Amino acid sequence: MILLKKNNTQIKQIVNSKEKKNKTTQKVNHILGFIAADHAGYELKEYLKEKFAFIDLGTFNDSSVDYPDYAKKLCKYVLKEKSMGILICGTGIGMSIAANRNKKIRAALCNDVGVAELARLHNDANVLVLGGRVTKPSEAEKIVKRFFDAKFSNEDRHKRRIQKLDK
Ligand code: RB5
Repeated sequence: MILLKKNNTQIKQIVNSKEKKNKTTQKVNHILGFIAADHAGYELKEYLKEKFAFIDLGTFNDSSVDYPDYAKKLCKYVLKEKSMGILICGTGIGMSIAANRNKKIRAALCNDVGVAELARLHNDANVLVLGGRVTKPSEAEKIVKRFFDAKFSNEDRHKRRIQKLDK
């Protein structure tokens, strides 16, 4: 599993100082990155938080919100902390579109474990996107595990293609 470069206490402080309104207790061991969802992804986010340690950037209930706001927030943290993240909306499509507008964010909408692994091996995806109304929680759990266990292949052809994305 990939760990953040900063230690967990530092990350906790960063989030707590910026998320004063929502100071939920964050798990501090083996934090994999950040997680955020809109109302349609809220339930799956809560399920995944029980299984893995992520820093939760909201939304914190199932009242209707706008997915671009949460994609923007999570991408800001992922880029600043050189970390990774998970975004969840109803289909995963809105979050994917929104996240991929950020330079250096490579967000991959994954509906199965094989694609999740390839998103890391070939695309060095730094954000996993899930559809809360599409993917069952038990399947999402497997996808998350595979995504965060896999590492970028570092092969020249993949590096070259990724570099072209940011030009
Ligand atoms: C919210 O109803 C839904 O439109 C949103 O979660 C997402 O699926 C958009 O792509």
